[in-house]
Order: sequence, then structure tokens, then C-alpha cells
Amino acid sequence: MTRTATTVWLDGTLLDDDRMQLHALTHALHYGSSVFEGIRVYPTPRGPAVFRLREHVDRLIAGAATYGMELAWDADALIEAIVATVRSSGREAAYVRPLAFFGGETVRLNPGRECPVHVMIAVLPFEGLIPGSTEAPRFRATLSPFMKTPSRALPSTVKAGGHYTNSIRALAEAQARGFDETILRNERGEIAEGSGENVFIVQGGELITNDVDADILLGITRASVLAIAREAGITTRIRPITTADLAGSDEAFFTGTAAEVVPIVQIDEREMGDEGPLTRRLRTTYTEIVRGSRPAPGPWLTQVS
Ligand SMILES: Cc1ncc(COP(=O)(O)O)c(C=O)c1O
Repeated sequence: MTRTATTVWLDGTLLDDDRMQLHALTHALHYGSSVFEGIRVYPTPRGPAVFRLREHVDRLIAGAATYGMELAWDADALIEAIVATVRSSGREAAYVRPLAFFGGETVRLNPGRECPVHVMIAVLPFEGLIPGSTEAPRFRATLSPFMKTPSRALPSTVKAGGHYTNSIRALAEAQARGFDETILRNERGEIAEGSGENVFIVQGGELITNDVDADILLGITRASVLAIAREAGITTRIRPITTADLAGSDEAFFTGTAAEVVPIVQIDEREMGDEGPLTRRLRTTYTEIVRGSRPAPGPWLTQVS
């Protein structure tokens, strides 16, 4: 049974409800010194399963190390804790938000020894990108006037709380102009990524996406889609994507844990038409794999029960 809307585990203990007390000087609240993950739980024929749990936990741990956060749990212990929290939520489909952060109690920038490192796991309902809709989403996107923070300033491979002020601003600006999503460019003017997704294009039957040197988060969905494409014999290219490439592409789509594979049907003034054939094929395959109705290219699903 679902106990509350959000099930929360904090520092090794399941809380009775989704309220937790934090020190007013919690470092992460003031300075964004947190790292987090977004993970999906899917209903499968064998019960609920977590998608690519180990990869998410590894990314969390690597991000925490970047900020000098010493976690009291190693990867195996975090995996176990996440599975137990999902099981306790009673949910078949869920979004899991692990968060490691510096707590109180100093206003000094260096959290030092004064700020304990906390780890939280929240399990919340996930009813699709557009709640209530059974249709696969399609995004109208715009090129953002905001630059993607260069990795020389904030490493794009780290999913840190403070890094997301860049995405928050860019998404708000795009949505204020009536678009669904934004595409940020890096300091060289090349395509970087969406506010919370990676970008793929299709040109002449080839699947193209950029790499870490474009200042992107190395998305786990991105890696999954590339693996699916390679297994299907589709030619994949990892290289910078220019605005001209995007403008001249036959198809374009976003990938991300929440979004899965979402066709881009418009970029600013340019109507791309409906979902292209390669996007549809990859989206359908991905959707079937995450829901356990098609074998995955690797051990991607962790059964919860
Ligand atoms: C900025 C950004 N890029 C890309 C992604 C896609 O990453 P993943 O596929 O691991 O969810 C996300 C979502 O986590 C993101 O926030």
C-alpha cells in the first residue's frame, strides 16, 4: 500500500511521512551543493523494476566525489536502499529521486567538517510527462538565448543541484514564449542539450548525437538509445551538432529518464513534421525494453520484488 504521496528514506531510515526537518543553514539550500538522480520504476510482467539502477547510482557517487562529499553508503548499499524504498512505496510505476547533499550548519562556502553529508531517497508517482495523457508526447522546441554553462565552470557530467539554475532559467524563458522545451548551445555555439534531455538528430539514415565535449550530461537514456540503435544495425555517429545540422536534420528527438524518447516536431519557426520513422522505431523499442516486454541488450532492469 502507498503510505504517502512520496515515500522518503533519509540517512538509512524510512520516514513515516514525506516531511523532513532540515537545519536552516543547510548548505545545499543556500549554495546548491547537492547531487541527485532521476530514476524510473516501470511495471513489467515480472513486477515493478528499476531501469539502469547501477548506472544511476554510479553517476551519483561520481558526482558526489566531485564535490568532496563522502557518502556513508557505497553503490551496493545505495542500490539496496533504493530497491527497499521503492518496495515500501508499493508503487508499480514511480520516479525515484536520490539526493546527496551538504547539511547545516555554516554559511561558509567550504562545507568542511561542519556540514554533515545527508542522503535522501524519495519515491514519487510518475504518470507520464503529461499527466492524464495516454498519447506519446511531442515537443515544440526553441534555441535558447541562454548559453549552456561551460564544463570549464561547472562539469556537465555532474548532476548537481546548483548546475540546474541554468536549465531552470532556460526552460522558463522558452515556456514563456509558448514552447515545450529549450535547446541550449555551448560557448562555441554548438548544440549542447535540452533543459533535462540529450539531443539526437537523424541525417541520411544515420543517428547522430554529441559527446561530453559539447558540455552535456552523459545521459543514461542516451547511452541506452545508442546501444539499441547499434544492436539494430543503425549507423551511429558521436560528433558535435551544429545549429545548421539541427536545421537540416531529417528527424530530431530528445532523450531522458523522464522524457524517454520524445520527437521534436518544431524548432523555432521550422515545423519538422510528425515523428520520423527512425525516431518511432527507437522510441517503440525503448518503451518496450523499459517495460520488460522486449529483452534489453544488457542487465538493465532490477526487479523490486
Ligand atoms: C541536463 C540533462 N541532460 C540530459 C539528461 C538525460 O539524462 P538521463 O538520460 O540520464 O536521464 C538529463 C536528465 O537527467 C538532464 O538533466
